[in-house]
Amino acid sequence: MPDPIRLLGVSGSLRRASYNSALLRAAMELLPEGVTLAAHDLRSVPMYDGDVEAVGLPAPVVEFREAIRAADGVLFVTPEYNYGYPAVLKNALDWASRGKDQPLLRKPVAVTGVSAGGFGTVRAQLALRQVFLGVDARLMQRPELHVGNASKQFSPQGALTDESTREKLRAFLAAFADQVRAQRSLTLSQ
Ligand code: FNR
Repeated sequence: MPDPIRLLGVSGSLRRASYNSALLRAAMELLPEGVTLAAHDLRSVPMYDGDVEAVGLPAPVVEFREAIRAADGVLFVTPEYNYGYPAVLKNALDWASRGKDQPLLRKPVAVTGVSAGGFGTVRAQLALRQVFLGVDARLMQRPELHVGNASKQFSPQGALTDESTREKLRAFLAAFADQVRAQRSLTLSQ
């Protein structure tokens, strides 16, 4: 039995009926054996302000940074807003990126997302990937998972009902767990 893996899941949407948060919940049901996934809510993270940072990180920022630090990998599930990803995510990542002890350094991360339209957040995911170059995280390059036409994929209650997408998500999570394990053995051997 391989060592357990603890993943953190972050949705870039704050709305209650969010498809992206629904995909994150579906991911919790489709994890490989030995992997857990806990969601982190970004609602209480204030807007980044260097003056606030100078006097001390706000509690929700500390909580987010510590949740990243404690996780073996972080799964970001992003909506697409105007061909980019939401300010909610950028803001949280900006806070997380500060200081030499920033928790995203060499952290395995994966990106997926759901859109109402047909492009499945391909542009948002591309833009979000760039941030992980900036913070020197270990981004999973493949497989990619773009979930489009959300209303056909989920039930009105927010359950992921499309079998083909469920299988893709299952494979995506298995690949991410493999990459987290590979990164862990690399770190241990250094
Ligand atoms: C959108 N949406 C959207 N969709 C897309 O495919 N490309 C885009 O550029 C945009 N732009 C955009 C901007 C803003 C401000 C909003 C609010 C929405 C539609 C978006 O995919 C849809 O609202 C999703 O349902 C949002 O994700 P959640 O909240 O359901 O997780």
